[in-house]
Amino acid sequence: MTPLDLDDDACVLVLTGAGASADSGIPTFRDAKGLWRTHRFEDVASPDAFRRDPTLVWQFYSERRAGVLKAQPNAGHHALAKLEARLGARFLLATQNVDGLHGRAGSERLLEIHGNLLKTRCSSCRRPPFEDTDVYDESPPFCGECQARGKTALLRPHIVWFGESLDPEHLRTLESFMVDAGRRLRFVAVGTSGNVWPAAGLVDVARRVGGRSWLVNAEPAANASAFDHFVCGKSAEVLPAFLGVA
Ligand SMILES: NC(=O)c1ccc[n+]([C@@H]2O[C@H](COP(=O)([O-])OP(=O)(O)OC[C@H]3O[C@@H](n4cnc5c(N)ncnc54)[C@H](O)[C@@H]3O)[C@@H](O)[C@H]2O)c1
Ligand SMILES: [Zn+2]
Repeated sequence: MTPLDLDDDACVLVLTGAGASADSGIPTFRDAKGLWRTHRFEDVASPDAFRRDPTLVWQFYSERRAGVLKAQPNAGHHALAKLEARLGARFLLATQNVDGLHGRAGSERLLEIHGNLLKTRCSSCRRPPFEDTDVYDESPPFCGECQARGKTALLRPHIVWFGESLDPEHLRTLESFMVDAGRRLRFVAVGTSGNVWPAAGLVDVARRVGGRSWLVNAEPAANASAFDHFVCGKSAEVLPAFLGVA
């Protein structure tokens, strides 16, 4: 394996997907043991599902909360935090994962573009999302701040559901990092199947601004041919040496 080429002014954007947490024991999206084999996503991960049956939705996310609380960051998460410590503002990490493991490994220049399982927000008012490790397996929680104003509103997981948009601030940060980097950009996608948009399109943006791209994945992803280089392997085994931080 040829390590990532990090000459002096390289700017590294990393996108991680469910495969980056597979070595921490968290099931991926479409793999055989994946979560969506036991639950139809329409029933648990959309605004309609939440309106229809908030108890079921909270049960599903409470179970996943309990799962991520038991998991530990793996060598791939730690390698990314080490590379960030070396590159500072020339590094950015965007993750599709909602397990919070990058933050626990020490990553700070981090965009959790699909939200975070360990955060909750109000479904109605604009109070900021807050850390929450509680499990709600019998009835869904209500917003205390709305209640204080005489309103009734449910709390919801801080997750971007199917049919919802990404935070425009995240998209702006990603775009300006890529445009500013231009030819210095090294785009690395790790453990992502290349099916979920708009993240799957970042490789095309990288090419457009003149950067180069690598895919690190356990198998060729749907958009593998769009990358300049493919590194086949497991994230926890491959990333430390590939990123030069072993
Ligand atoms: N950990 C999490 O937070 C988590 C888990 C499941 C799903 N999700 C959500 O579901 C969606 C899934 O899309 P996706 O593209 O991220 O995942 P995906 O499950 O569709 O694809 C995962 C990819 O990772 C590869 N892979 C599996 N194990 C690997 C390993 N050890 N090292 C490297 N690659 C490995 C698989 O071959 C596959 O191509 C995302 O939007 C995400 O928000 C998140
Ligand atoms: Zn509220």
